[in-house]
Amino acid sequence: MDPVRNPYAPGAGQRPPELAGRDRELEVFDVVLERVARGRPERSLVLTGLRGVGKTVLLNTLRSEAIGRLWGTGKIEARPDQPMRRPLSAALHMAVRELAPRHRAPDRIDDFLGVLKAFALRANPPGGKLRERWQPGIDVPAASGRADSGDIEIDLVELFTDAASIATDVGTGIALYIDEMQDMSPEDVSALCAACHELSQTGAPLIVVGAGLPHLPAVLSAAKSYSERLFRYQRIDRLDRISADQALCAPAAREDVEYEAKALDLLYEKSGGYPYFVQAYGKATWDHAPQSPVTDADVRVAAPEAEAELAVGFFGSRFERATPGEREYLRAMADAAVAISERDEEELDAIQSVPTSDVAAELGKKPQSLSPARDSLLKKGLIYSGERGRIAFTVPHFGRYLLDNA
Ligand SMILES: Nc1ncnc2c1ncn2[C@@H]1O[C@H](COP(=O)(O)OP(=O)(O)OP(=O)(O)O)[C@@H](O)[C@H]1O
Ligand SMILES: [Mg+2]
Repeated sequence: MDPVRNPYAPGAGQRPPELAGRDRELEVFDVVLERVARGRPERSLVLTGLRGVGKTVLLNTLRSEAIGRLWGTGKIEARPDQPMRRPLSAALHMAVRELAPRHRAPDRIDDFLGVLKAFALRANPPGGKLRERWQPGIDVPAASGRADSGDIEIDLVELFTDAASIATDVGTGIALYIDEMQDMSPEDVSALCAACHELSQTGAPLIVVGAGLPHLPAVLSAAKSYSERLFRYQRIDRLDRISADQALCAPAAREDVEYEAKALDLLYEKSGGYPYFVQAYGKATWDHAPQSPVTDADVRVAAPEAEAELAVGFFGSRFERATPGEREYLRAMADAAVAISERDEEELDAIQSVPTSDVAAELGKKPQSLSPARDSLLKKGLIYSGERGRIAFTVPHFGRYLLDNA
């Protein structure tokens, strides 16, 4: 069918033509926004899930929700080894700029911006040359004595408190969105938890909405033991059958295209309901199908192309980030999963994690000697450890990809 009219959107952070199966998350967030705006105690929200399940897309949608309610919003994407002070000040700057036109006292905004600037300037190493110093692009003089101690935990509490009071003035709230939150440094995570803790106690209208890999709750509770009570965790998972069908059928119907039931059966079997795969198989199938209704034969013809594109765009791009030693570790994880599936007669895709000792046994090495490879893969976000002594791929169907291709 006409590729120009192809509605599907495989790609990182690509807005899907139909956001399927996320009604519950949207409803929860609606309540959170409403409660926070009314000064009710509410927890910040954290979305967790594997690669490609739609965390970024959902995070962006939740941001639109907040903007729709005239909240101030800002978003950052955490990166390993990148301190949060700079990106966070840019995000808060943006959020407050959205609120500024509705504020009756411009002085209060300027005062806040002065504090924000002082906070941001602390990102510069002390004693650096003036012309080499990074400037935050805020048009007011930096204040002093607030949010500029250099201790990120103290500074963040003060900064968030001041930002929230601006939002209180205009009768709304501020929402800060943090994607890839597991990549924040322990120091920054700890500071962020402390700031959220402080705000939740005073009912100040500022919330953090985070998204990250499945081990993010463990990262947060390692930083502050009270983080479990601070955040509301929502596991973002693959789509159930009904939602996956909706993700395919609703956009097609808008183009007067239908699917035969058997085509949908096969598409679900191939995608496993993982949103990225749903989009990838949907897109290839559309391009190959000669006409509506789409048949299972069309899906069969199109599948190799979808798989080839996933091999490059979804799996390959990640596999390439691993060193030869790390690749060996990844392959051994896949082999260990195969061994378990044969022993326990379980389906390979149903095996979520493998014992690290099994991986070591596959490689014929001592577990300790593999720690560097494992730690580096953890840092690169290719694997995660949900429970002690076990390890899992963050990328769904990665084991199968490795067995077939690598
Ligand atoms: N609810 C949904 N319904 C249909 N398609 C979706 C849905 N959510 C996401 N997608 C599609 O899935 C793909 C991946 O989405 P997204 O990039 O948000 O995933 P992610 O969880 O952030 O992945 P990563 O961990 O790699 O950043 C995109 O192509 C998007 O269009
Ligand atoms: Mg993402």
